[in-house]
Amino acid sequence: MNSRIDVLISRDEIEKKVKELGAKITDDYKGKELIIIGLLRGSVIFMSDLIREINLPLKVDFMTVSSYGNEKYSSKEVKIIQDLSENIMGKNVIVVEDIIDSGLTLNKVLEILKIREPKSLKLAAFLNKPTRREIEVKVDYIGYNIPDEFVVGYGLDYAQMYRNLPYVGILKGE
Ligand code: IMP
Ligand code: MG
Repeated sequence: MNSRIDVLISRDEIEKKVKELGAKITDDYKGKELIIIGLLRGSVIFMSDLIREINLPLKVDFMTVSSYGNEKYSSKEVKIIQDLSENIMGKNVIVVEDIIDSGLTLNKVLEILKIREPKSLKLAAFLNKPTRREIEVKVDYIGYNIPDEFVVGYGLDYAQMYRNLPYVGILKGE
């Protein structure tokens, strides 16, 4: 039962990347009002860093959708556990996610949010595993493309643990 975590993206690299993404979003949404929607729980660390790098008036909201349970691989079914508090009709929305793997979660979330007629709807994902995609999802802001490895830290968990690691690491041997 030996598990170890190999650093994939360091704290410094994360900080630099999040600043870049925040500056890009600030640029893209000049003069517009924004609602940033975080998908709980994985996105909270990235989201809290990202919004402080966005130099615009904005609101935040959260949504919980069912995810992997305690397993490393997806159960395929995506359900809303907790919905938004804000009405997004006519608003500029950015959905923030920790990682996109198969794409099933975000695809479903987008489908649900589109029905509510936001003015615009974009996606920001800190990590992306392009080789694992099962359904196409257009991601507007990506931190890093990573290989097909199970990663933890910076909000990402394995069985709800490791979210507080300040770096992203590859979990080996769980
Ligand atoms: P998707 O629906 O397959 O794109 O899965 C996205 C969700 O799966 C993410 O929000 C994460 O919660 C979880 N996930 C996917 N890959 C990893 C990983 O490498 N580490 C931790 N969680 C992951
Ligand atoms: Mg998640």
